[in-house]
Amino acid sequence: MFLLCLFVSIMSTFCSHSGETHLRAYSHGDIIIGGLFPIHKRTNRSESQFHETLTCNSYDLKAFLQSQVMIYAIREINQRTPRVLPNFTIGYDIYDTCGDVSIAIRATLQLLKNQSDPQRCLLPQDFPSALPETKAVIGEWHSEVSVAVARIVALSSVAQISYASTSEQLSRKFKFPTFLRTISSDEHQTKAIAKLVDKFNWKSVAIIGSDDEYGKYGSDNLEQNFRNMDICIEFTEILPGSFSQNTSTNNLAKLVSKINSSTAEAIIIFTKETNVRLIIQKAIDYNFNRTWIASDAWSTSPSIFALPGIKKAGEVFGFISMRNEVPRYKDYVISNFNNTTNRIIEHHWTHYPLCSNHVAQSDSQESKPCMNLSSLAEYIDDDVSYNVYLAVQVIVEGLRRLLKCNNHGCTRDSKFRASELFLEIKEVNFTVNTTHIFFDRSGNPSLGYDILYWNMAQSKTLIQTIGGYWPNEEIKISKDLVRKYNVTVTAYNCSKTCQAGQELKKQSKRCCSVCVPCANGEFSAKNEG
Ligand SMILES: *[C@@H]1O[C@H](CO)[C@@H](O)[C@H](O)[C@H]1NC(C)=O
Ligand SMILES: *[C@@H]1O[C@H](CO)[C@@H](O)[C@H](O)[C@H]1NC(C)=O
Ligand SMILES: *[C@@H]1O[C@H](CO)[C@@H](O)[C@H](O)[C@H]1NC(C)=O
Ligand SMILES: *[C@@H]1O[C@H](CO)[C@@H](O)[C@H](O)[C@H]1NC(C)=O
Ligand SMILES: *[C@@H]1O[C@H](CO)[C@@H](O)[C@H](O)[C@H]1NC(C)=O
Ligand SMILES: *[C@@H]1O[C@H](CO)[C@@H](O)[C@H](O)[C@H]1NC(C)=O
Ligand SMILES: *[C@@H]1O[C@H](CO)[C@@H](O)[C@H](O)[C@H]1NC(C)=O
Ligand SMILES: *[C@@H]1O[C@H](CO)[C@@H](O)[C@H](O)[C@H]1NC(C)=O
Ligand SMILES: *[C@@H]1O[C@H](CO)[C@@H](O)[C@H](O)[C@H]1NC(C)=O
Ligand SMILES: *[C@@H]1O[C@H](CO)[C@@H](O)[C@H](O)[C@H]1NC(C)=O
Ligand SMILES: *[C@@H]1O[C@H](CO)[C@@H](O)[C@H](O)[C@H]1NC(C)=O
Ligand SMILES: *[C@@H]1O[C@H](CO)[C@@H](O)[C@H](O)[C@H]1NC(C)=O
Repeated sequence: MFLLCLFVSIMSTFCSHSGETHLRAYSHGDIIIGGLFPIHKRTNRSESQFHETLTCNSYDLKAFLQSQVMIYAIREINQRTPRVLPNFTIGYDIYDTCGDVSIAIRATLQLLKNQSDPQRCLLPQDFPSALPETKAVIGEWHSEVSVAVARIVALSSVAQISYASTSEQLSRKFKFPTFLRTISSDEHQTKAIAKLVDKFNWKSVAIIGSDDEYGKYGSDNLEQNFRNMDICIEFTEILPGSFSQNTSTNNLAKLVSKINSSTAEAIIIFTKETNVRLIIQKAIDYNFNRTWIASDAWSTSPSIFALPGIKKAGEVFGFISMRNEVPRYKDYVISNFNNTTNRIIEHHWTHYPLCSNHVAQSDSQESKPCMNLSSLAEYIDDDVSYNVYLAVQVIVEGLRRLLKCNNHGCTRDSKFRASELFLEIKEVNFTVNTTHIFFDRSGNPSLGYDILYWNMAQSKTLIQTIGGYWPNEEIKISKDLVRKYNVTVTAYNCSKTCQAGQELKKQSKRCCSVCVPCANGEFSAKNEG
């Protein structure tokens, strides 16, 4: 009861708040889909001071373009012939969360309001039966924000589909009953990494994680997988939260000397890009020439693969959720952005004026750097953007099932409850372009990972896709590669198998054994480590 009262009072605070302070784009339709994007990455919230108002900063071009993918996909659905949802148009209501939990909560409450009567707040007693106009929500990016949003949308049984939150926590359906995602959870990634190590017949690894949720979950899960597979973990290093800021410590020096003296065949780094950069820079400085496995946080990071002398760090394998281009989106940005308007695009031009318009007005204001549309299109990414596109397609497929549509008409009207739509979305099983998608019972998609290899043969590092992994299936990678990396004695003179008459004997180093003749009276046909 206490919680309900608290909730009512929070709701009324937000609902009486009419002035919109943060960025939002709305377009009317028979059915509204909500969207949450961290178009700004940060707020000016400070640790030491409390202020009632927050402003957002660190404008993010990629997230801006991802929010426009949602609008693009909805537009395309509304315009495609034959009609996908005859008799209905889809509208959107998209908010910039600034990557902030409080702002995202406010946006979510706004989404769940009855929009035809914005003065009226939904009261707790309305919740099981209330009909918010928003029938599904796409977002958010960060797991932490998605967790907060998931708890609120569950009250109205509104389906939430995240395009980038990978935290395994969100798989727990008793906590987050209406949460789904179009990106694989970290659990599958750690399985994929362990399977790659096994495929190459590597017997010793080192793991570097961090004490944030991503790094901690990743390293714990990797340890567990390797233990079950009988692969030796030489060491696991958990970096502190301040690792990349606190240069006064000797954390980095300790780690470097640990890596230097390690005999691990592969070193897996499962932490954020800013941490990895420091480590790889040292690996270059000291010419480590090791084998690294990159988690998705850094496997395609230009700030790392473009480091001068990256070749000296050694070889890099990596994982990234399967990448695809959003069909025709790039063309759309280049040829249609200048005559498309919504509040978020208008706001975009204030940061990056369009070059042609810019020239005309440049004398009045102090000139900002202008950007033409082809340069803007270069910022389109092909992992998260595609997941946003998929999320829209999944909702539309759910609607087609619920409203019983064929190409000529639908047999139900738009007065349905969000929970009905959620139940249909959960059951979708269809193909978008070349991607087959359905959800498992935890709301995780049947989507896999690309296995990457950083090819440093030329002066510029090329990231190649060398294989793939789908949940609960075997890893797919070329046989030649497997043969190349499958050795019986490592570069550190550790043996993995011995000939008849020999046995493996542990060295002082933890994961390193050598072959020695069998002791008198013992016999070995073949001894595998
Ligand atoms: C953030 O910016 C707003 C508006 O500029 C200002 O009123 C507020 O005091 C700032 N907050 C902090 C914590 O600096
Ligand atoms: C859908 O539209 C078609 C033609 O535009 C019309 O004949 C049909 O009655 C409409 N169906 C519903 C459920 O509104
Ligand atoms: C919104 O409020 C209006 C007026 O109170 C009501 O007639 C309508 O049914 C409500 N709409 C939804 C979707 O709950
Ligand atoms: C840096 O690390 C040292 C030793 O671990 C600690 O004493 C110090 O407080 C840290 N400084 C910051 C700014 O975190
Ligand atoms: C790495 O180990 C070698 C041999 O033990 C030693 O000569 C070298 O100084 C070490 N390098 C670093 C950076 O610790
Ligand atoms: C790294 O070591 C391999 C052999 O283990 C060698 O072929 C390669 O040239 C070395 N690379 C560098 C940059 O030293
Ligand atoms: C699938 O994507 C490709 C490449 O973007 C595009 O050429 C093709 O038309 C798409 N197919 C469908 C059915 O949308
Ligand atoms: C925008 O311009 C393109 C061609 O430049 C045209 O095909 C499209 O219909 C226009 N869209 C709008 C909304 O005017
Ligand atoms: C938008 O850009 C296209 C291609 O650059 C151009 O043909 C078109 O006239 C522009 N439309 C508007 C409304 O500026
Ligand atoms: C767009 O800008 C880039 C550099 O900012 C330039 O190289 C390119 O030629 C421009 N493209 C067009 C179509 O103006
Ligand atoms: C999805 O549909 C295919 C047939 O198109 C079927 O073979 C498969 O079992 C379905 N998967 C699930 C999880 O329902
Ligand atoms: C790796 O090499 C070992 C020993 O040479 C061999 O038994 C095993 O089949 C190889 N594994 C693969 C996947 O090729």
